[in-house]
Amino acid sequence: MTDQHRYKRILFKVSGEAMMGDKPFGHDKESIKKICSQIIEAYNLGYEICIVVGGGNIFRGISVASEGMERASADYMGMLATSINAMALQNILEQSNIPTRMQSAIPMNTICETYAKRKAVRHLEKKRVVIFAAGTGNPFFTTDTAAILRAVETNCDVVLKGTQVDGIYSADPKKDKDAVRFDQLTYRDVIKKDLKVMDQTAITLAKDNNLPIIVFSISEKNALTRVLKGDLNFTIIKK
Ligand code: GTP
Repeated sequence: MTDQHRYKRILFKVSGEAMMGDKPFGHDKESIKKICSQIIEAYNLGYEICIVVGGGNIFRGISVASEGMERASADYMGMLATSINAMALQNILEQSNIPTRMQSAIPMNTICETYAKRKAVRHLEKKRVVIFAAGTGNPFFTTDTAAILRAVETNCDVVLKGTQVDGIYSADPKKDKDAVRFDQLTYRDVIKKDLKVMDQTAITLAKDNNLPIIVFSISEKNALTRVLKGDLNFTIIKK
């Protein structure tokens, strides 16, 4: 039995860019639907699912406004962007009758619940997909760090990071034809080789809590469940 078959509770990290398809920024409904269909497929297989979404697709649109801005303010704009994306995912999932709860690290009670670990775990036990918005709620932290933090807090077995490429390579595979894909890496490898898959804060937090991270291509058909079944290329980072 592979590790993937032992996972019960998973955290799926969706990049904001994956939600904009070929558009320069914003939302592409078809791309969001494709992401949601992957989530629904995993849900129907019985996985308990948390989601953390980035905000890059919206932040691109506001990056001109944030130019020259103080870092903390720009980061708060990014956190609001993730909340817009979380609402978009929630809506599409609910249109398919998937029960969801959205929790924000920054209180915005009119829109959704505020993050509470115990409540999030209860939602998961009740088979609701839990979408975490607004990153960690703090500037200077990435949504990758938020993904690892929430996964650790809610006892997820693994973080699955959907990207544009099918794992971690020795160099950028789009620029270097000799780049090789790693099947497996240790946390130390990623830190030592300074592989840019996640920031070091996120990797260190995963290492300290022995949380495996799987990096895979979100653009493949049924990618999430195929990765969980061990039926698609990916790179796993673990001890
Ligand atoms: P259980 O108590 O486990 O059954 O969870 P529940 O989420 O069904 O109960 P609750 O009464 O807390 O929530 C009912 C609905 O209200 C859900 O859709 C929640 O997401 C939503 N909700 C709960 N708290 C808040 C909040 O502070 N703000 C907003 N906007 N919605 C909330």
